[in-house]
Amino acid sequence: MRLSFTVNGEPVEVEARADDMLIDVLNSLGLASVRETCGIGVCGACTVLLDGETASGCLLLAPLAEGREVTTVEGLGGSDPVQEAFVEAHAFQCGYCTPGTVLTAKRLLEENAHPSEDEIRLALAGNLCRCGCYLKIVDAVLLAAGRKEKAWTS
Ligand code: FES
Ligand code: FES
Repeated sequence: MRLSFTVNGEPVEVEARADDMLIDVLNSLGLASVRETCGIGVCGACTVLLDGETASGCLLLAPLAEGREVTTVEGLGGSDPVQEAFVEAHAFQCGYCTPGTVLTAKRLLEENAHPSEDEIRLALAGNLCRCGCYLKIVDAVLLAAGRKEKAWTS
């Protein structure tokens, strides 16, 4: 079937099977930031924004994106304040989880511009980091929210 939707502000048309997952279609478009780890909606590595809401690319059938707006971390352009805060706070090691975590953090900050640490932890509970960067990830979101002036350095 032919699918039409918008990815990072650009209209795309792709051929897909009815049972293709969105992550596979996005990867086929060269969007490598959408990563599959668990494949069952647990780890958050495949997180994208679908019409501005977080969604797991590994669980979402690609036809459900028809006519909708998909955002991946490539669409942030590298100079997004949340991305910059992650760099400043050294909030990653291997970086595998980072695109999904950044998008979830962006969604949180749109909804709640000044979240508490507990609210950040709750919002990011579905984004697992095997490298264990959780403290610095929380720090990065606090930085992006303007609740902290400097990255945690100890
Ligand atoms: S790969 Fe989709 S949630 Fe883990
Ligand atoms: S930085 Fe390696 S999994 Fe999170």
